Amino acid sequence: MGILFSSPQVEFQVIRDEWLEGVEEVARRGVFVGGTPVTSFESAFAQYTGSAYSIGVGNGTDALFLTLKALGIGPGDEVITAANTFIATVEAIHHTGATPVLVDCDPDTYLIDLERAKQAVTPRTKAILPVHLYGQMVDLSELTVWAEARNIAIVEDSAQAAGARLHGQMAGTLGIAGCFSFYPDKNLGALGDGGGITTSDPELASRLRRIRNHGGEAKYRHEFPGFNSRLDPLQAIALELKLKHLDEWSVKRRHAASLYEHYLQHLGGIVLPKHRQDESHVFHLYIVRVDAAIRDKVRKHLQKKGVLTAIHYPSPVHLTEAFAHLPYEQGAFPVSERYAREIVSLPMNISITEEDVKFMAEELRAVLGTIQV
Ligand SMILES: Cc1ncc(COP(=O)(O)O)c(C=O)c1O
Repeated sequence: MGILFSSPQVEFQVIRDEWLEGVEEVARRGVFVGGTPVTSFESAFAQYTGSAYSIGVGNGTDALFLTLKALGIGPGDEVITAANTFIATVEAIHHTGATPVLVDCDPDTYLIDLERAKQAVTPRTKAILPVHLYGQMVDLSELTVWAEARNIAIVEDSAQAAGARLHGQMAGTLGIAGCFSFYPDKNLGALGDGGGITTSDPELASRLRRIRNHGGEAKYRHEFPGFNSRLDPLQAIALELKLKHLDEWSVKRRHAASLYEHYLQHLGGIVLPKHRQDESHVFHLYIVRVDAAIRDKVRKHLQKKGVLTAIHYPSPVHLTEAFAHLPYEQGAFPVSERYAREIVSLPMNISITEEDVKFMAEELRAVLGTIQV
């Protein structure tokens, strides 16, 4: 099969038989929207994360958008997030009518710079949306206390960090709500689109259960105009089956990361990710940096050898066409902008072997050794 970039097809084989049985059961009952599979996964995920509630929705973008809507965020408000995130984080803010306020990232962790986030607060700030980027948790212990005193909500974009734990708390349980994507190649991935929200606030949970379902929990009782964004039961079955393996899969990802460190640490011309030596990084992605001038050559060389790489993400949000209207020029976020030119995502998934990493290290040594910067 070669070296996979991500491994949803491998994970599928683990759950295949039980999932197919679950699908048959749904078909037998004839309940194709909602039903027991969804509530069962919701309680399993709430229990796993240590939240009082979990609410399944259509995808991770909706998880963010609906949470901000349910918190009453809208036109005239500001929400602070990182310039270097997947565009969905900022789209979710934009579509509430609020203004996205971006800040640069920390040069070591690539995570939102919390001091800059605090400096960006104005009387209009309603929420801060830290992103646990690449699977590594932002340490929010101090920020949550600081924000609570100012009546600012902390909503975690946990899309890439399912299963990560810091100081005994799981990603998605540090702020008022945690938003997850179950996109197939995520650490906890469905077999199609899916998303979820964790919260321990009963009022927010109740509002989210209604907002995702046309403004009411019961059919045809619409308390306010809502949306249709429900977790599909066939996805919920897959997710509940995969959840049982999530911790074991996080161990595999961390092991793959330690292999990369072992084989790449003495290689010149490549910067490896810095991270805490605990369970707060679940390595959704393994990101290295090389000089911008040689990145294409490095990627092409690896591709010729059968190793697919990617870039997460080629452009910080303020330099995308979609958000060109935000008041940030080129140069506004120098760390994010520089890293966007240097980052390379190497394969990271539950099937990576030591042989794979050795092979990639040899190829990287070969290509880095021959390129003149
Ligand atoms: C950081 C981040 N936020 C939000 C999302 C949106 O999730 P989805 O693709 O499920 O809508 C993603 C998914 O790629 C993501 O990586």
